[in-house]
Amino acid sequence: MRDENFLLEIAGFVVCLLLLCGDIESNPGPNPNPSSTQGSPLLVKTNPRVTRGQSTLPFGDSRSEKSSDIDIAKSLVNITQALGEIMSQLDMFKSELVDIKIELQTMIEVKENLSVIQKENNVLKEKLEKLEENVKVKNLIVFGMIEAERETATETEARVRAFLADKLGVEGADCEDKLPIDRCFRFGRKVPDKCRPILVTVLLQKHKTAILNAFKTFRQNSESRKTEYIKEDFSERVRNIRSKLGAILFKVKSAHPGELIALKYDKLIYRGQAYTYNSKLDCVVACDGDKDVPNAIKLTQ
Ligand SMILES: *[C@@H]1O[C@H](CO)[C@@H](O)[C@H](O)[C@H]1NC(C)=O
Ligand SMILES: *[C@@H]1O[C@H](CO)[C@@H](O)[C@H](O)[C@H]1NC(C)=O
Repeated sequence: MRDENFLLEIAGFVVCLLLLCGDIESNPGPNPNPSSTQGSPLLVKTNPRVTRGQSTLPFGDSRSEKSSDIDIAKSLVNITQALGEIMSQLDMFKSELVDIKIELQTMIEVKENLSVIQKENNVLKEKLEKLEENVKVKNLIVFGMIEAERETATETEARVRAFLADKLGVEGADCEDKLPIDRCFRFGRKVPDKCRPILVTVLLQKHKTAILNAFKTFRQNSESRKTEYIKEDFSERVRNIRSKLGAILFKVKSAHPGELIALKYDKLIYRGQAYTYNSKLDCVVACDGDKDVPNAIKLTQ
């Protein structure tokens, strides 16, 4: 008796499992004779546990169970597909990332190369400026000298020499051996009724200084403003610095007449100390670095 009950219980449990799995129908069609089921070991109506189990099954219709299973399977397929796509996209991103990394490294290298090139370029620029300034160091520009219709270079030089000797009183200016001139020519576009400036390159630095000093005296002694004018030939860098320093010089001189201030080449000499204009900092700085710029100069900037 005990064994028989045990078997029945197992059979009921299996039915429950099958029902849960949806592999057998919970309603196997109408039973024409309910009493004839009494002997069947599978339809154990007599076993209260099975009956109870059946009535409390969590799923209603097994057909909806089946279709929900199919949905889950489809979803799984979809998820798997989506995952596959994500993975392949990830792979793509990975390789793109590698490309980006390589490009970034190249860019960093280019940047480094560029800064090296910029440094080299600055050094070259400074060298070129120095070279240009060295070339210009013995140059003078003479303005306001009457120009003949078809003036030859020899005539131009003769005109300059006559001006230097007769008007400025420069010693030896009328003699080629005493004051050698390397080059002497008019430059710039020719405009009717206007005389073009003359570039004069002397052979010796001391002659340039002598001419400039003589011109200074000439300017100071002449009552009326003369048309002739002599200027030094500066590079663009020096010209820019001088225009800044010149403005300061003018302001300091008008505010404090008699102040010891002078403009020499690319430097402003104030009370025996040299200052220059730093274009990068856009201000006047002391030439020996850590000296303070006096207020007289600072305030006029
Ligand atoms: C699976 O994906 C298709 C389109 O890709 C969609 O139409 C379908 O509804 C999805 N199925 C499930 C169960 O998510
Ligand atoms: C950087 O400069 C080095 C040496 O001049 C050169 O070999 C290299 O190709 C340069 N790199 C780039 C990215 O231009």
